[in-house]
Amino acid sequence: MDMFVVRGGRPLRGAVAMSGSKNASLPIMAAVLAVEGPVTLRNVPHLADVTTLASLLTRLGVDIRRTENDELRLEVVDASACVAPYDLVRRMRASICVLGPLLGRRRRACVSLPGGCNIGHRPIDLHLRGLAALGAEISVERGYVLAKADRLRGAVVDLSGPTGSTVTGTCNVLTAACFAEGRSVLTGAACEPEVVDLGEFLIAAGAAINGLGTSTIEVDGGPTLHGTRHAVIPDRIEAATFLIAAAITRGDLRIDNVRADHLSAVIETLRQIGVRIEREGFGLRVSMGDALRPAEVCALPYPGFPTDVQAQLSALLSLAPGTSVVTDHVFPDRFLHLPELCRLGADIRREGASGIIHGVPQFSGASVMASDLRASAALLLAAPGDSVIRRIYHLDRGYERLEDKLRPLGADICRVTDAAENVPLTLVPPLEPCDTAGPPPPKFLQPRSITAELPDHPI
Ligand code: UD1
Repeated sequence: MDMFVVRGGRPLRGAVAMSGSKNASLPIMAAVLAVEGPVTLRNVPHLADVTTLASLLTRLGVDIRRTENDELRLEVVDASACVAPYDLVRRMRASICVLGPLLGRRRRACVSLPGGCNIGHRPIDLHLRGLAALGAEISVERGYVLAKADRLRGAVVDLSGPTGSTVTGTCNVLTAACFAEGRSVLTGAACEPEVVDLGEFLIAAGAAINGLGTSTIEVDGGPTLHGTRHAVIPDRIEAATFLIAAAITRGDLRIDNVRADHLSAVIETLRQIGVRIEREGFGLRVSMGDALRPAEVCALPYPGFPTDVQAQLSALLSLAPGTSVVTDHVFPDRFLHLPELCRLGADIRREGASGIIHGVPQFSGASVMASDLRASAALLLAAPGDSVIRRIYHLDRGYERLEDKLRPLGADICRVTDAAENVPLTLVPPLEPCDTAGPPPPKFLQPRSITAELPDHPI
């Protein structure tokens, strides 16, 4: 398993371009299952999650290739398969996005339940309720969702749940509704830009959809969708991560290929806490103002502050003097990163769905473990001095060539294979001399060669 060895804290300076959105690419790629004819997608990022979904789509009869100019060409060549097996779905929850397109076009779907997740309870009841409202017969057997419908019929489908709407659930029902007879009205629909991007792809493929970006979407179903071209929107979560990276390192960055209108809540929040953000050409220029201010921030469905930026913001607020509170109303248990941030010197305690953050002057180097995709980004941003971040396969799922993007900006970051002998010895804190007489420690606790390289500050 790879890990990052980071000598963090260096100000990031220069320009960096954002990749295409992961969370828009995945449902759009899955929707190709419902399309007859070739589809060409631009801006699909090179990510582990994209590769995972490509494997699943290949299994479901889609021919996929990257062209020389980095476009993704997809075309259904065999529409007979309907099974998304556990061995592929368990690698990535977003695989559930194949359910709606399979049901809509092939009238049958057998998709493994995605299973557990590090960011909290993630049911799919709203997906199933929505598809059932369109007339699908749904059951769950031996860990698989079985869905079938000889005919789908337009209906009013309510997608609101206890914590708001569901993003991938809206994607599933939206795509299936394109094949339902008559009009479907999706209420409580997710307004996220990634849902809008899927909707615009479906419209380009011949669907009749109104109300994208609002909580009520109307779909007039038809018999087919045809091949088309589409450019995926830039990744707003990657952009937010780089905005925070510039602030946390007191750097000065220009972020290109960005949609500022998708980042309103992030930009507003960061400005409130003292980060300077201005438009520059088609990009954003970000630098740190005089001082960070504490804040109370709540992660909410779009257009609220994104849950996917909650961990990175917690890292930044850890350096703001005073007390900040970060609450997550979307995933109230998404706090596995807090103990790891504390290992880097942050002072945070969890209270229910909130992290209570007491600002510290700086982080200190440590060895930490990433728990999920966005938590890994938070640790990377916080990592000062010598730090080691393990389990970075989470990062590879969602950030394209992250170290290659960070290095030209001044970051000192190196990817190494996770083996004990590769851990920098300076990460072992120095032992204070023991002043109570006792038996000499056993030989294996006297690592002469190690203590010779330890830093000379006290623990
Ligand atoms: C998507 C994003 C993820 C982001 C999340 C919330 C993708 C691939 N992933 O995940 O990065 O963090 O939106 O913005 O786009 N819920 C239910 N029942 C359901 C479905 C969801 O109660 O059937 C709840 C969830 O537990 C959660 C909330 O609704 O509390 C939002 O989840 P949802 O929008 O479905 O997240 P995903 O689509 O899985």
